[in-house]
Amino acid sequence: MNETIDTILDRKSVRKFTETPISKQQLTTLARAAMAAPSAVNRQPWEIIIVTEQALLKKLGAALAHAKMTAGAAAAFVICGNMERTGEGAERELWVQDCCAASENLLIAVTSMGLGAVWTAAFPFEDRMASVRQILGLPEGIVPLNVIPMGYAAAEVQGHDKFDGTRLHWEGWK
Ligand SMILES: Cc1cc2nc3c(=O)[nH]c(=O)nc-3n(C[C@H](O)[C@H](O)[C@H](O)COP(=O)(O)O)c2cc1C
Repeated sequence: MNETIDTILDRKSVRKFTETPISKQQLTTLARAAMAAPSAVNRQPWEIIIVTEQALLKKLGAALAHAKMTAGAAAAFVICGNMERTGEGAERELWVQDCCAASENLLIAVTSMGLGAVWTAAFPFEDRMASVRQILGLPEGIVPLNVIPMGYAAAEVQGHDKFDGTRLHWEGWK
C-alpha cells in the first residue's frame, strides 16, 4: 500500500513502556500532528497538556484506575476541549469530534515515530475529569477528553487486523 496506510494499520494500544524519555522536540512534533486535525468551522477547540514530570505522571496513574499505566509512561498528552472555542447550541458538542480527530492524529504520529500509546477516556466520566482537573490545575471551561500515556514499548505488542467485510455497507444498508 503506502507508508501512511502501513502506519495506520500498525497502530495498536501500548500499555507498558521503557524508561527512555521522549525528547521535547518529538513531543512538540506530536502536538503539531494532533493540531493538524480537521475541526468544525475550523474552530480548533483543543488545548493540549503535555506531562513529562514523573511525579505528575504517577499522580495521574494513581488517581485513574483505568489509566494506571500513566504512572510508568515517559509522557502523557491530555487532550482537552476549550468551551470558549467551541460552537453554541447544538454545535457545542462538536468539540468532542474535533478533539477525537486530534487524538487519533496523535496516535498515528506516535506510531510513525516508533513509540506506543494508549487512549484512555476522561470525558464523559465526572470522577475521572475531576481528578484530571485537580491534578493538572485545569481552569473552568477546559474539559479533559482523554489521557494518552506514551513511551517506547517495553515489549512488542501484537497488532491485529480489524477489517471486517460484514460491517461494510456499499450504497446504503445492505
Ligand atoms: C474512547 C476510548 C477509550 C478508551 N479507554 C481506555 C481505557 O480507559 N483504558 C485502556 O487501557 N484502554 C482504553 N482504550 C483503548 C482500547 O481498549 C483499545 O483501543 C481497544 O482495545 C482496541 O485495541 P487497539 O487500540 O490495540 O486496536 C480506549 C480507547 C478509546 C478509543
